[in-house]
Amino acid sequence: DWTMKAFRDEAIERIRAQVGKGRVICGLSGGVDSAVAAVLIHEAIGDQLTCVFVDHGLMREAEADQVVTLFRDSYNIPLVHVQAQDLFIGALEGVSDPEVKRKTIGKLFIDVFDAEAKKIGGADFLAQGTLYPDVIESVSFTGGPSVTIKSHHNVGGLPERMNMKLVEPLRELFKDEVRVLGRELGLPEAFVGRHPFPGPGLAIRIPGEITREKLDILRKADTVYLDEIRKAGLYDDIWQAFAVLLPVKTVGVMGDGRTYDFVCALRAVTSVDGMTADFYPFEMAFLGRVATRIINEVKGINRVTYDITSKPPGTIEWE
Ligand code: XMP
Repeated sequence: DWTMKAFRDEAIERIRAQVGKGRVICGLSGGVDSAVAAVLIHEAIGDQLTCVFVDHGLMREAEADQVVTLFRDSYNIPLVHVQAQDLFIGALEGVSDPEVKRKTIGKLFIDVFDAEAKKIGGADFLAQGTLYPDVIESVSFTGGPSVTIKSHHNVGGLPERMNMKLVEPLRELFKDEVRVLGRELGLPEAFVGRHPFPGPGLAIRIPGEITREKLDILRKADTVYLDEIRKAGLYDDIWQAFAVLLPVKTVGVMGDGRTYDFVCALRAVTSVDGMTADFYPFEMAFLGRVATRIINEVKGINRVTYDITSKPPGTIEWE
């Protein structure tokens, strides 16, 4: 009978067989998948693994610190923290197409990993927390012709010129299974239970061109929203919740003045694997509370809407 303990043992054997005496670098994203992949690979090959956390400036509030603290302090896994905010945000200047954003970010990730691999004397393998749905969704959309909906950069978008081979120990698993494996590996519950966060980060939560100013506004709104969700005890009932900053300004009134600021859309969905999803049925009073707080506390936003689109026909992210 198949248990996660058995999967873990088999996966460790498979990683050892694939990697041999090679060196592996693993990109950490701040999400559950890459964290679980890293801990599993570390169990298999110990210090042949180096983790790389690339701060692309598209993270949420305090996210970088949480990842670095978990890996350095709790696990003692060698971790390189790369400050690449200027590189990524510079390259995204003037880019507004969602797929071009993903490809730009995916290419830069590889450049940074290559550079970090050189610094440690070369790496033979690049490890990623790719899951089964990532493989499926990047290839085709169920039931239809083979059309790419979104090129999740941890699957597609890897240039052929890359010298490293891929290690993807979670390729057969769904998210709920990765969480079980994470618990099996002793990852803290606060980490295992985290909502998914996409590799391109906040870049795909600002439709159109991103700027540092928009990123700052979005981070603040997102923090308020998630804070209210946690306070209401709803975090664990929701697959994913986040704010989106729309490139649209509308007129409002505050005190005795006119405002002309951005619109923020709130998204929250339930799902088991991210492939289909339903919008979360918040109570109106909850949504009203979040809207009031965001408009009062976040300079640059004067209107809040709630996205009631399910997947399909929508997708979870807006880009
Ligand atoms: P969609 O928006 O396709 O999202 O319904 C399904 C799940 O995938 C995540 N997502 C991504 N993850 N790179 C990632 O690593 C990406 O480019 C990407 N796009 C979407 C999304 O957050 C959701 O969990």
